[in-house]
Amino acid sequence: MAQLSLKNIGKSFDGTDVIRDVSLDVADGELVCLLGPSGSGKSTILRMVGGFETPDRGSILIDGQDVTLILPEKRPTGMVFQSHALWSHMSVADNVAFGLKLRRMPRREIQAKVADALGLVGLKDYGTRRVWQLSGGQQQRVAIARALVLEPKILLLDEPFASLDQHLREHLREELRDIQRRLGITTLFVTHGQDEALALADRIVVLQQGDLEQVASPDRMYRAPETRFVAGFIGSMNFLACDMRHGRADHPLFPVEAPVADGPVELAIRPEALTVAPARAPQAKVHRTTDYGSHLLVDIDLADGTRVKAMCPPSARFAAGDGVTLTADRVTLFRGQKKLAEVSPRPARELSHA
Ligand SMILES: Nc1ncnc2c1ncn2[C@@H]1O[C@H](COP(=O)(O)OP(=O)(O)O)[C@@H](O)[C@H]1O
Ligand SMILES: [Mg+2]
Repeated sequence: MAQLSLKNIGKSFDGTDVIRDVSLDVADGELVCLLGPSGSGKSTILRMVGGFETPDRGSILIDGQDVTLILPEKRPTGMVFQSHALWSHMSVADNVAFGLKLRRMPRREIQAKVADALGLVGLKDYGTRRVWQLSGGQQQRVAIARALVLEPKILLLDEPFASLDQHLREHLREELRDIQRRLGITTLFVTHGQDEALALADRIVVLQQGDLEQVASPDRMYRAPETRFVAGFIGSMNFLACDMRHGRADHPLFPVEAPVADGPVELAIRPEALTVAPARAPQAKVHRTTDYGSHLLVDIDLADGTRVKAMCPPSARFAAGDGVTLTADRVTLFRGQKKLAEVSPRPARELSHA
């Protein structure tokens, strides 16, 4: 049971700011995902919380206690690295026991705790195996057991499943989520995969170039992105450039109205917010369809050459070359990075009934 606070953390390497001014509170038992492109500073933040890097500015508090300058092994944190760094010549049990032995815990107690930790990650009968005999997924489970056995207050994971294939990654993600819930352990999880963040997190922190772009629940992050960067980074998004004039967008297909000053804007529309209909007087033309089973993804070329993606029900029948019309039932307006407005124009079908 623990609470983590980062207060105005800054860090530079070789004179370059890598983390600018990051403040974040993680609640007791919460799982927070740090999500961002490669090089955005995710690992650096995690390593500072774990004590493997020291911030240049700011402080890190665990349950109100300042741990900023405390050595990693003296911190109540447990870290799982991207490459698990297990000792491949040692047995699974010895790998997990290592940290407890350093603490000079009695052997019986160590055995019991190691057995518990291996049980937790589904490797109850694997204690005597050598690490090199295990699959990649099993090795990552050992790495998680090795972190958990020390009963850290805060669990830190740096892209732990990045090297695994997709099915295994999704499976381990669900297992980790179950373990995390059961133990109620406060967790920071680094990933560059938006799927992973959306699936795992209570809250997501989107990082870009050492700054927090947005901190929000997966639901809010997807449905109410605060910046253009987040809108484009999480999920798939169509961006359409046009101008606002007298409160109306001059886009021929989406003349949305919003109380926005005149000037250039981008209309951001999710593929699932677009409705595609066959048309005698088409506004756009189907370029390609991709059948995902659960839905049909339709790439559509607008008259100005812009290509948009629309998500249609699996039963939809469109083919390359079909003329179509488009309506959008949710549009977000951005100017530069800034969100100006969210509008829900009534779909044209409804208007035609009115
Ligand atoms: N020890 C280091 N020395 C110099 N530069 C570093 C060091 N660690 C990280 N960096 C730089 O800091 C930036 C952020 O790195 P990192 O935190 O690893 O990003 P991420 O984990 O989001 O991919 C990168 O530009 C990286 O090259
Ligand atoms: Mg990293």
